[in-house]
Amino acid sequence: MSEWMDGTLSAASDGRLRMGGLAVSDLAKEYGTPLYLLSDDAVIANSRAFADTLKAHYPGPSRIAFASKALDCTHIYRVMREQGIGADVVSAGELYTARRAGMPPEDLIFHGNNKTLSELTYALDERVGCIVVDNQEELRTLGELCEKRRQKATIALRLKPGVEAHTHEFIRTGGVDSKFGFDLEPAKQAARDAMGMPGLELTGVHCHIGSQIFEAEPFALAVKVLMRFMRELSDETGHTLTDLNLGGGYGVRYTGADRPRAISEAARATALAVAETAAELGYPLPRLILEPGRSLVAAAGLTVYTVGCVKDIPGVRTYVSVDGGMGDNPRYTLYGALYDALLADRALEPRTKTVTVSGRCCETDTLIPGVALPDGVKAGDFLAVLCTGAYNYALASNYNRVPRPPIVAVRDGKAKLVVRRETLEDLVKCDL
Ligand code: LLP
Repeated sequence: MSEWMDGTLSAASDGRLRMGGLAVSDLAKEYGTPLYLLSDDAVIANSRAFADTLKAHYPGPSRIAFASKALDCTHIYRVMREQGIGADVVSAGELYTARRAGMPPEDLIFHGNNKTLSELTYALDERVGCIVVDNQEELRTLGELCEKRRQKATIALRLKPGVEAHTHEFIRTGGVDSKFGFDLEPAKQAARDAMGMPGLELTGVHCHIGSQIFEAEPFALAVKVLMRFMRELSDETGHTLTDLNLGGGYGVRYTGADRPRAISEAARATALAVAETAAELGYPLPRLILEPGRSLVAAAGLTVYTVGCVKDIPGVRTYVSVDGGMGDNPRYTLYGALYDALLADRALEPRTKTVTVSGRCCETDTLIPGVALPDGVKAGDFLAVLCTGAYNYALASNYNRVPRPPIVAVRDGKAKLVVRRETLEDLVKCDL
């Protein structure tokens, strides 16, 4: 029970769950449910943990760019910017939001396996810090575009290091059978091609091996593969790449079964792997770039729902239906992802009854297939699903024409609405 009380979350003897000292059920009453709560304090602590660890343990230059797909709203770009952290953006929409939120263009890294011509043009208009080129076709298009515009773009190549991370196959992206990036040999050719293109400045390589990874080993392997590539390219062409971008992927604890490393430990292991490999290969220390998404924001968030109908099917299960569902958290439906939950006003009571938490959609939209809660859950209770700060709001939809919930950020003991609740009017605003 108390395993969740970690500084961000707490509960006094009254059993009321608090975020940053504010009672979750009070916020639910004030802002309505479903409601995403985000602890800015936790996001800031996590971002500092990454930055401070790299500073302390990596002898070369380093940079953190938030993988904003995990939570792409104006507020979070502002928080990251305030922390001196950049962002990875993967669409015109994310680029637009980041720029509008005041993110400096040089702190942006533009990703995507199939960027459109208009997105590439937009990225050039905005002069983003780095475009990570995914494939030969894109390299050619971007090279031509830059030449036509008489503009120089800084690029990195996305490589497939062939590392198989132990995670859900849908979020595993660094192996050979992946739609993302270049295989190593074609990447060498692409690098040579890029060097011959006057509009492109090739400065680095990138990989992202997958997401929700707990072990250190796949990252260390990826470091070896990418740095060998850098070494060989330098030997063969005399061109020394300076940037090594290792993507994100650090796992978080959704349930007691997950055993992630602390951010400081994970970032330290990566930093040491890069420094060691550089020494082994006699390669100058690259600028190390990490793009954490989930590990920066997941545990900083929770979603509060109001319990509606509770259906006990004797000998089968108890369904606890809430006023949200796959529209605000499709991760069980998509990946079989598991979550833990607490009753917001009975957070310290023994959890003796296992129930299934379902959503409100017109299909079997399970939110949590089995979670232990105190006995006697009833309509009107507030249920807090934990660790929903990443890929929940970002993956939310209007399925069944249900308006998306607002986000309330908590910082220094104060709550602030940072994304308002969608209205019925919002739902029809594009309908002609
Ligand atoms: N960099 C790149 C290029 C990425 O593609 C991703 C995630 C990241 C960084 C951040 O990875 P993270 O630190 O969050 O693991 N929707 C899925 C996750 C998809 C991740 C896609 N790429 C989910 O809900 O689990």
